[in-house]
Amino acid sequence: MAAQYATRIAGTGSYLPERELTNFDLEKMVETSDDWIVERTGIRSRRMAADNQVTTDLAFNAAKNALEMANLQPRDLDGIIFATVSPDQLMPNSACILQRKLGARDIMALDISAACSGFLYALSIANDMIVAGSHKTMLVIGAEVLTRLVNFKDRDTCVLFGDAAGAVVATRAAENDTSRIYSHHLHADGTLGELFEFKMGGSAHPYSHENLDKGLHWMRMKGREIFKHAVRTMSQSCSEALEHNKMSGNDVDWVIPHQANIRIIEGVAKHFGISMSKVVLEIERMGNTSAATIPVALDRAVRDGRIQRGQNVLLTAFGAGITSGSLLMRY
Ligand SMILES: CC(C)(COP(=O)(O)OP(=O)(O)OC[C@H]1O[C@@H](n2cnc3c(N)ncnc32)[C@H](O)[C@@H]1OP(=O)(O)O)[C@@H](O)C(=O)NCCC(=O)NCCS
Repeated sequence: MAAQYATRIAGTGSYLPERELTNFDLEKMVETSDDWIVERTGIRSRRMAADNQVTTDLAFNAAKNALEMANLQPRDLDGIIFATVSPDQLMPNSACILQRKLGARDIMALDISAACSGFLYALSIANDMIVAGSHKTMLVIGAEVLTRLVNFKDRDTCVLFGDAAGAVVATRAAENDTSRIYSHHLHADGTLGELFEFKMGGSAHPYSHENLDKGLHWMRMKGREIFKHAVRTMSQSCSEALEHNKMSGNDVDWVIPHQANIRIIEGVAKHFGISMSKVVLEIERMGNTSAATIPVALDRAVRDGRIQRGQNVLLTAFGAGITSGSLLMRY
């Protein structure tokens, strides 16, 4: 069926908690060093939610900013899609909790679990609903409080992750509007699932003292293997987006990759043949905030004037699953 409508990003928003956890703080907790972390990841510090803040609190602030930029109210929303692997609780979902906090109408409210690709998946689904005409204005969130899933005795993971929220308001574009999402390409390879896992709390590993003793309530990761799949999958997704739209790297003004590791990002830029000056980088003071990295980076680049209306922006992500993908838009 031919597309009836197009989607434009009407507003972006983000929120980072105030509390900062630097590499020097981590040196006091595990055997690591600022030099090692900066050299291997490009991260100098990350944010940590306050003890009384939960994931939907971070999302609420990001959503308010995005709605304000879009000049819309919560009552204007037709749906909320919330990407996270660190929801407030398993049930009800975070989208419903956020709907209540925002005071939005009786609208669909859905969580997406696709790890660090979650926001890309969520925005792609929202786009398809808008294009199909069933929904006009969607709030898309990527928000995480990962510091509560991380074992601060495990140096393999605790130096990487942080807390943040990003949001976009996606709406039906007017006929004469040149802003639009051109395409998205989403992928998954479940055979690589064991590279990055959080096991506890589901039907396979329910909450029990035994599972707690095994440490199944912490994230576990095979970092070196993820690294190479990350570079490969993001590079392939970027090429796929360009081929699909008959564009070259020269047509892209900005690339916003998932911010997991500066070396992964540099690897993708090299593989894909795009200058690092076209890459939006926010990892240094934020770390890997999973589903939140892309919407936060997008919001920051829009607000500080790097990304301008009419520019072509390519989003790409990979994450546990492993999931991956790209989305190309004219902002
Ligand atoms: C995790 C990661 C930073 C590790 O970097 P790396 O260059 O691959 O490092 P290695 O795993 O090869 O480890 C090198 C050494 O540093 C040590 N090391 C690991 N973490 C360390 C830390 N925080 N501080 C100091 N040393 C550390 C290792 O034990 C290893 O020591 P050894 O050589 O004596 O065995 C990197 O692999 C990575 O970013 N992977 C992707 C992870 C990711 O993005 N996950 C999220 C998916 S969305």
